[in-house]
Amino acid sequence: MSDQKIYPVNPQIAASAHIDSAAYQRLYQQSITDPETFWAEQASEFLDWQQPWQQVLQYDYPKGEIQWFLGGKLNVTVNCLDRHLETRGDQVAIIWEGDDPAHDRKLTYRELHTQVCQFANVLKANGVQKGDRVCIYLPMIAEAAVVILACARIGAVHSIVFGGFSADALRDRVIDADCRVLICADESFRGGKVVHSKLNVDKAAKQCPNLNTVIVIKHTGHDIPWTAGRDIDYREAMQAASADCEPVMMDAEDPLFILYTSGSTGQPKGVLHTTGGYLLYAAMTHKYVFDYQEGDVYWCTADIGWITGHSYVLYGPLCNGATSLMFEGVPTYPHPDRFWQVIDKHQVNIFYTAPTAIRALMAQGDDFVTRTNRSSLRILGSVGEPINPEAWEWYYQVVGNKRCPLVDTWWQTETGGILITPLPGATPLKPGSATLPFFGVKPAILDPDGNILEGEAEGVLVLTYPWPGQARTVYGDHARFIDTYFAKFPGYYFAGDGARRDKDGYYWITGRIDDVLNVCGHRLGTAEIESALVLHDLVAEAAVVGFPHPIKGQGIYAYVTLNVGIEGNSSLKGELKDLVREEISAIALPDLIQWAPGLPKTRSGKIMRRILRKIAANEFHDLGDTSTLADPSVVEQLIANRLKLP
Ligand code: PRX
Repeated sequence: MSDQKIYPVNPQIAASAHIDSAAYQRLYQQSITDPETFWAEQASEFLDWQQPWQQVLQYDYPKGEIQWFLGGKLNVTVNCLDRHLETRGDQVAIIWEGDDPAHDRKLTYRELHTQVCQFANVLKANGVQKGDRVCIYLPMIAEAAVVILACARIGAVHSIVFGGFSADALRDRVIDADCRVLICADESFRGGKVVHSKLNVDKAAKQCPNLNTVIVIKHTGHDIPWTAGRDIDYREAMQAASADCEPVMMDAEDPLFILYTSGSTGQPKGVLHTTGGYLLYAAMTHKYVFDYQEGDVYWCTADIGWITGHSYVLYGPLCNGATSLMFEGVPTYPHPDRFWQVIDKHQVNIFYTAPTAIRALMAQGDDFVTRTNRSSLRILGSVGEPINPEAWEWYYQVVGNKRCPLVDTWWQTETGGILITPLPGATPLKPGSATLPFFGVKPAILDPDGNILEGEAEGVLVLTYPWPGQARTVYGDHARFIDTYFAKFPGYYFAGDGARRDKDGYYWITGRIDDVLNVCGHRLGTAEIESALVLHDLVAEAAVVGFPHPIKGQGIYAYVTLNVGIEGNSSLKGELKDLVREEISAIALPDLIQWAPGLPKTRSGKIMRRILRKIAANEFHDLGDTSTLADPSVVEQLIANRLKLP
């Protein structure tokens, strides 16, 4: 473990940073000793409220109840747009960079405000009211910012579904949130290829009886099927819409959005975030974690379909009046220097991406990086999965020329914003460690029985106190919210990750300890992939586990038991992959499928995934306790026929 290696704080960065080491110590102490005063001060500093709150916090973890800034009233778009108009109306809010390097576009705060108001009127004209759920199934185009904020303008709750999800996955999410209106593109481009978004929507819509309006943004302009009476052309509707739209004042605890994420069991859950606390937390972390300075060009490469896109492409940066870059494409198109070309083209100062992208680009060699300039860069960030020290060093040394602090930020869909992270002017860095908690965040490490471990320790990561950006419920299933996050270790928020704390109090995230996979920074539940596989008529049973993958972080290894008498072959493997693609997404395709005559189970019938994980990872010499297996010979067969890892 390279936890001895420390990069001290860069003194030049510290000199101009919002937070230096002394300020971090002081504010962190205040934030945990007197949290309510601390958060009240931050809420006044970062947000404009129409009506102040009466109470800062009320919570009851065993009941899964969390409320911040009770009684406060505000509107997210007033904070992200209106209040900037006077001072920075002509400043660029969104730089859009297309998949094709020749395509780009800039939207000022004034333009964005006008379009958001217009589209909010389009939504209203189509019957959308405060509290209604609106599904957004869009690629990374500038209009995505417009429609998302338009929902917030009128208090509609958006549910963004990642554009890479299949028609079936989209259908499930539309039905779960009972969305009547959906916004999509005709098509989009990714790495030079066309993605047929509208076709997926048409397919999904057939099974969504309540979905009555589909607003289509024509992005490629190619011919697409059109359902009269249901489909609306975005541009035509915008032309007819007034640019005056009063913001609807929201309670701090009114829902802002639902975002589906995978858990260890069942269907993805709709994580619900609310208005005041979420916005405050997104804005504050954006400012301090990236040391955002007035005038900076800031680029987070995440898709708006994930929480990182919500908090750090849109809400945090726009609340702070930043210029935020949205990128439609992929890091390797047209060449593997695309990220660095875009950084030079738009003079990006802050760059935030995922370890999987870093590892993929590292494998392409240094020349693609070193032939670009990158002198505009000041801060680098990483998110989505643990960053291995080799990738960290390459990112820091080759991409950042050893000048730019690298913030490895640990958080989750449910946390709304970054929880454990360095601050550029305050925290000495250790490659591979997310370092220290953000203000107000109280992590702890537990043993499996739930006892708090002090000092150097490794175990289960929990948070012992609420923070404003925390999710409030699982949409439509509060019992699942309690069960998933608060039941296992009463009194704490259970994150699902393991962590180690070193002698300096630094946290090292060791990865998920439940049946959630992290593939290329995408969160997937093994249960979802298994459900897709067993839909095949010839499949009796399936078990999916992750294995360490050099680029993807984790790869997907599927053990599939076929019906008696059926022989597995490569065309059947192809059919199984097609099923996963159709049911979920290409991101969930198994890398390896092993035919398994049987699966290792306890006598009560529970699949022993621990053993399957070890076989997949080639660590079968140390399988641990196998005495509870119903049939130990199954394991030997699986080991004998295991597949070679990529
Ligand atoms: O396992 C952790 C991993 O990603 C999970 C959360 O996934 P998701 O909700 O999709 O959000 C991703 C973007 C915030 C976590 O439970 N994870 C995220 N960031 C890190 C990480 N693991 C280690 N280090 C990180 N910096």
